[in-house]
Amino acid sequence: MSNPIITGYGDNLTVNNIRLGDLSPSDHENIEKEKGGQNYKPLEDVVVSHVKDSSTLICRKPSKNDVDAYIEEELIDGLCCYSAVNQGQLNKDIVDAVVHHLKNEKLPTVPRSIRHKYMSAFLLAATSITGMDKVVPKVSGVESWELTFKLCRRWGYQIKQIPENECIIVGAKGNFHGRTLAAVSMSDDPDSRDEFGPFVPGIELVPYNDIESLENLFKEKGDRIAAFSVEPIQGEAGVIVPDENYWPQVEKLCKKYNILLAMDEVQTGFGRTGANFAYELFGVKPDIIGCGKAAGGGILPVSFVAGKKEIIDTLTPGSEGSTFGGYPLASVVGVYAIKTLVDLKLAENARVRGDQLMNHFNDIKNEFPDKIKETRGKGLLTAFEMFDETHLDGHKVSVELLNHGVYAKETHHSTVRIAPALTISAEQIDSMAAKLREVIKSL
Ligand SMILES: Cc1ncc(COP(=O)(O)O)c(C=O)c1O
Repeated sequence: MSNPIITGYGDNLTVNNIRLGDLSPSDHENIEKEKGGQNYKPLEDVVVSHVKDSSTLICRKPSKNDVDAYIEEELIDGLCCYSAVNQGQLNKDIVDAVVHHLKNEKLPTVPRSIRHKYMSAFLLAATSITGMDKVVPKVSGVESWELTFKLCRRWGYQIKQIPENECIIVGAKGNFHGRTLAAVSMSDDPDSRDEFGPFVPGIELVPYNDIESLENLFKEKGDRIAAFSVEPIQGEAGVIVPDENYWPQVEKLCKKYNILLAMDEVQTGFGRTGANFAYELFGVKPDIIGCGKAAGGGILPVSFVAGKKEIIDTLTPGSEGSTFGGYPLASVVGVYAIKTLVDLKLAENARVRGDQLMNHFNDIKNEFPDKIKETRGKGLLTAFEMFDETHLDGHKVSVELLNHGVYAKETHHSTVRIAPALTISAEQIDSMAAKLREVIKSL
């Protein structure tokens, strides 16, 4: 144990005589392997240094020939941190708000046990954009889902009068809600579950986009089911868009059996799918939603739960809390993330640029019908799936795209998701698609 010696910023940031600017991608990899947990497998030989504009990442490595020089590479960001940066990197209004807040307004952090004035602004903005009665701030996406889960159980006991400890929350197969124990208890993905049991009880899964299975379960156990907790479009599963009439039928069933419809809008919210929230695309209104990712404008982790009064009102002091949920700086960022969503018409941009990207996908599919099996998406949450053959490998596509200057990542063996910032330009979409075509052609 020793006190580390830390100096400098950026490439000159130096910890115990190791200066960041001197580290090669493999040095970074070695440090991560030696000193970090191996819960991610980042693309190899590339390290992001900074951003050039709202959708361009700059990767940097030291030059082997000249100690004072760097080799730089530009990447179009086709992923925008899994939809956390819908507003574009370093959105000026959000950055200005943060700088102004810290330098002039001077209130970074106080706990929730004393009121601060920025909470009011956040609650007003978040209830307004969601059209919900009440909002509770949290930090990460999974926390918003987990609080939704807890609130559904509370509502089940207090309002629906489910007998104590018998409450069931229904989820969908292929779901992704994050990595806490409750979230992996609902997951059916062995990678995220293996050897983490025993799991949270009172969870049942039905196939996604299958109204009959849901109805059968509601018929059998509806008196003990508090909520159906789902993503309106499954993101991590490979951008699975349910049939047009699925959500209206689900909404009807939920009403019939007095079961809450709880939607996880962490990835689909904030304009991503061409509407502020994806449920709007299907003409339904959930009882409660969880938001995260772009709720923090790509600057801070900000998440929240928004829902009907009778659900949120089941909370009592001490039943829920979070040191950084809605602290002053996060409240300001949250307000400006919403302001940017509205001012920049991000949902509309997602629709227009999404159509442009899907047209390119479909052209590529028509050109290579033996390679591309399906294209899917809404707005700028898009994916293409290749046929399940060894040479059509999603990871290889990600690596080749990287070599062509595009950052995207496979979700499963043969599916590649593309979900850039909602501020991306028409030229960047065309350029990304041209590179994608080259890569698919080369497979
Ligand atoms: C639908 C959905 N819910 C929850 C989460 C978890 O968010 P976080 O990683 O911020 O906890 C994610 C993350 O990808 C997500 O896609």
